[in-house]
Amino acid sequence: MTELATVATSSAVYAPSAEVIARAHVKDWDTLRAYSLEHPLEFWAERARELEWFQEWTQVLDDSNKPFFKWFVGGKINIVHNALDRHMKTWRKNKLAYIWQGEDGSERAISYGELHRMVNQFANVLKSLGVRKGDRVTIYMGRVIELPAAMLACAKIGAIHSVVYGGFSVEALRGRIADSQSRVLITCDGAFVNGKVVELKQIVDDALKPGDLPVEKVIVYRRTGRAIGWVEGRDHWWHELMQDASPICETEVMDAEDPLFILYTSGSTGKPKALLHTHGGYAVYTYTTMRYVFDIQDEDRWWCAADPGWITGHSYIVYAPLMNGATSIIYEGGPAYPAPDRWWSIVEQYGVTILYCAPTAIRGFMRYGDEWPHKHDLSSLRLLGTVGEPINPEAWLWFYKHVGGERCPIMDTWWQTETGGFMITPLPVVPLKPGSATRPFFTIQAEIVDDAGQPVKPNEEGYLTILTPWPGMARTIYGDPDRYIQTYWSRFPGRYFTGDSARVDEDGYFWIIGRVDDVIKVSGYRLGTAEVESALVSHPAVAEAAAIGLPHEVRGNAIHVFVILRSGYEGTPALAEELRQHVGKVLGPIARPERVEFVARLPKTRSGKIMRRVLKARALGLPEGDLSTLEE
Ligand code: WT7
Repeated sequence: MTELATVATSSAVYAPSAEVIARAHVKDWDTLRAYSLEHPLEFWAERARELEWFQEWTQVLDDSNKPFFKWFVGGKINIVHNALDRHMKTWRKNKLAYIWQGEDGSERAISYGELHRMVNQFANVLKSLGVRKGDRVTIYMGRVIELPAAMLACAKIGAIHSVVYGGFSVEALRGRIADSQSRVLITCDGAFVNGKVVELKQIVDDALKPGDLPVEKVIVYRRTGRAIGWVEGRDHWWHELMQDASPICETEVMDAEDPLFILYTSGSTGKPKALLHTHGGYAVYTYTTMRYVFDIQDEDRWWCAADPGWITGHSYIVYAPLMNGATSIIYEGGPAYPAPDRWWSIVEQYGVTILYCAPTAIRGFMRYGDEWPHKHDLSSLRLLGTVGEPINPEAWLWFYKHVGGERCPIMDTWWQTETGGFMITPLPVVPLKPGSATRPFFTIQAEIVDDAGQPVKPNEEGYLTILTPWPGMARTIYGDPDRYIQTYWSRFPGRYFTGDSARVDEDGYFWIIGRVDDVIKVSGYRLGTAEVESALVSHPAVAEAAAIGLPHEVRGNAIHVFVILRSGYEGTPALAEELRQHVGKVLGPIARPERVEFVARLPKTRSGKIMRRVLKARALGLPEGDLSTLEE
């Protein structure tokens, strides 16, 4: 450990081996980067031609109505045609699409041909329930193959999927169903995680109980086989509906700019935002970024260990791997169940060649000790990747040494729900600096600016902004275009504002520091202070609450909350624990606060806004900064 820490502080650079360069799709980063900056539209048109279109576009980019950019205008496509249908004409029909392992050790493998059949059948099921092009469908499932299949079935018929992460609970699910106005919901009876059963169907029943949501049909995939509640007429078993469904289903011809999905993400204020992605640009962007950054080849076994319910899973478990014809691993359960070498046994068992995960998982494994990865033959690995939060150099070096055998470059990919795919990222041929996401992807121009929007000097911290549009960018916030402009395009006119702070070193390498808004990244999961606070005030004892993120050794950040109680309540340790559990129950276990502190007052501005930065500074014992707006 000490030895690693010393290395971490030096500015070591890790150059790619001759072997890595020899097989890479892109061998000369500098030349392609220069070309892409000079000819961005040609670059993307060339990539788009690697996919199959029903009709080619007439214009690559329409920027006449900024910031509502349109890509591949006039083009007709369906991402599912590219993810599945087109492989039916080639040998890939018999290639494995997914290898799945349940937490209980059960295994399944499904070929492209079989997945195509399942998706067609389920698309017909959705049609028979009245789902039409443009309708929203909420998907709330555990990590089973049927989750990607449900997403693909929606996209195939032009419906818009809205996946809600299976770790969220009643209120988070309710809010997302209400906002999307889904009439159909797809779920599982339950999921196995960390040796326990997550009662997904029960959470669905609780969310729908008040009877004010538009859901008319609930489709339930049986995973655990345990007893569940049932509403006659509303609830249907997946396997029963599938029994009579035809395996033939024509793929809907979509406009390149037609919606593919919405995905909710936490923002700085108010309720979560539904970011909208489209068929054409998103397909081109995710396909290309995966191909170049992870250098995906036909013999690879790709494991993106994220959950399909987050953007990482949408892009890099579902759409990009299938468009690239890759074989992916999906593992259902907890990373250290039943022992801390669960992941390493999966790598060994299936010969995983590329592993993409979150720094928090790596820090968790580090704590268990080096012996766990060493118990297994990990020599199949050739590339590693991380996402979701900055990776500290110690964790980078541990991953590099003990998992990658000092042989596998680590792709530290910076991106967001909003960006659709990787934005600042190495390629295998790019020399690496532990802790840096290195440089922007092809055509992307990123810049760090100060409060006034002026570029800062090398190594100075500032706001991370993007100057140019890219095909994978979210098109809007579903149902709230004004909020889209307000959130991303107003702070620095003409630029996309990421919400992150960062610095660029003298070599042009980006070092992401973290969120500058009221988003807290817990174990790489994105949570809004507003969501946590409203979960707290839904408890009868709570009058007011403020949530902040404070550094945590494994999770990156942990949620700390400050609570003002209603009169008649006493701030006992038992009540603090009750409030922690309450947040876990209404929002989901990931949102459960680390610590609850009872206070008499909260620092506020004169207009009544809670000054979370003051709370944070106090908690960390740091200077409180400018307090001129603080009320008496
Ligand atoms: C936020 C976006 C995009 C997939 C998962 C997260 C942070 C993401 C990195 C990285 C440092 C990172 C940023 C960003 N983030 N990747 N490689 N290094 N920070 O998507 O939930 O929309 O969160 O995650 O703060 O803004 P998301």
